[in-house]
Amino acid sequence: MILLSIETSCDETAISIVEATGEFPHATYKILGNALFSQIDIHREFGGVFPAIAKREHIATILPMLEKALHESGLDSTPAPELPETIPHITELLNREFGLGDQLMSYHRTHGIPPIDAIAVTSGPGLEPALWVGVNFAKAIAYLWNVPVIPVDHMEGHILASIFDTHHVHKITFPALALLVSGGHTELILMKDWGRYEKVGQTRDDAVGEAFDKVARLLGFPYPGGPEIGKLAAEAREKNLPEYIKLPRPMLNSGDLDFSFSGLKTAVRYGIEGKTMSDDDKKALARDFENAAVEVLVSKARTAVARYGIQSFILGGGVSANSYLRKAIAALSTPQDFPDLHVYLPEPSLSTDNSIMIALAGHARFGEALSPTDFAATIRANGNQSIDTLS
Ligand code: KG4
Ligand code: ZN
Repeated sequence: MILLSIETSCDETAISIVEATGEFPHATYKILGNALFSQIDIHREFGGVFPAIAKREHIATILPMLEKALHESGLDSTPAPELPETIPHITELLNREFGLGDQLMSYHRTHGIPPIDAIAVTSGPGLEPALWVGVNFAKAIAYLWNVPVIPVDHMEGHILASIFDTHHVHKITFPALALLVSGGHTELILMKDWGRYEKVGQTRDDAVGEAFDKVARLLGFPYPGGPEIGKLAAEAREKNLPEYIKLPRPMLNSGDLDFSFSGLKTAVRYGIEGKTMSDDDKKALARDFENAAVEVLVSKARTAVARYGIQSFILGGGVSANSYLRKAIAALSTPQDFPDLHVYLPEPSLSTDNSIMIALAGHARFGEALSPTDFAATIRANGNQSIDTLS
């Protein structure tokens, strides 16, 4: 089965073509094509992701990404077909994605219908205008090619990305636990089985990725500053720089599995207010912040692992690219701590948003595929990732 997957929930426009042989979770996978455009350079100027700008950029790049992924896969070489009757309908489906319907039709006139069996598309959570572009585009090509659509949850995609190893998904032991850390989410998910999830902990305010980005901004680094904080913190550890400020560990002893990161960011703000900081001061502060954030994440993870008798622990989402967090989570699996625990980390290129993870989650949910007519093109928005929260 060949899946085409689409991800447009935030600021990455990504399309992949993935061949799956066998049934989930025993299938083997081959990535035939993978195209991703990051809008970060565009959003950086504004200090965060503006949903309307994200939408505009998705509209401008989604067809080139489709073309690139299909070309890479070698599946775009079939001759152009007789155009189906439904053409006016296609342009109508994309009437809110200005010009995209015409672009798609002109592409279609010179290219054939590729041998795609299903289209997986992120239907949420994410930025509403951004999600609509992917979902409407998926519906339009599903009509053109007469293939079913599988709506995919972005967070389930992150989970699958973390357990994916080149050609297959790892066999995990249930109940498993996933710690999902991204720009919009910080949550602990108890996985009772494939697709059976219970949220057992979540942030009460900012997501941890958001806190990384805000602290970076306070230090004068451009959006998204999470990776920069990680880099500076590593340098501070290497140089053994002394503590710059004492920071709180919010909700460390709250007894539940919830998080809070907004107070930590505020503590950083007050701690550096009015100070002139040297480069080493910034490194030390980045390290102090990273220590505080990671300590809370690891402590809650530890509590949850013990509480639910977990043997498979999954770290996923953009912040899982952070090497200090990766090491600290991996270190839970020790003979003294949790000897039976297996920790799954995404390979770095699959840590942040991508469409391979959407293909994997789509395959897992192939049973929920809908015909283009039945696919209602709905989305589940989550304004959390918008610039409004980046103050
Ligand atoms: O999953 P993701 O790509 O997008 C969302 O679904 O939100 O996560 C993006 C978040 C951003 O906040 C970014 O700063 C953070 O992940 N991030 C990192 C690192 N790489 C990405 N945070 C800390 N250290 C990193 N190396
Ligand atoms: Zn994400």
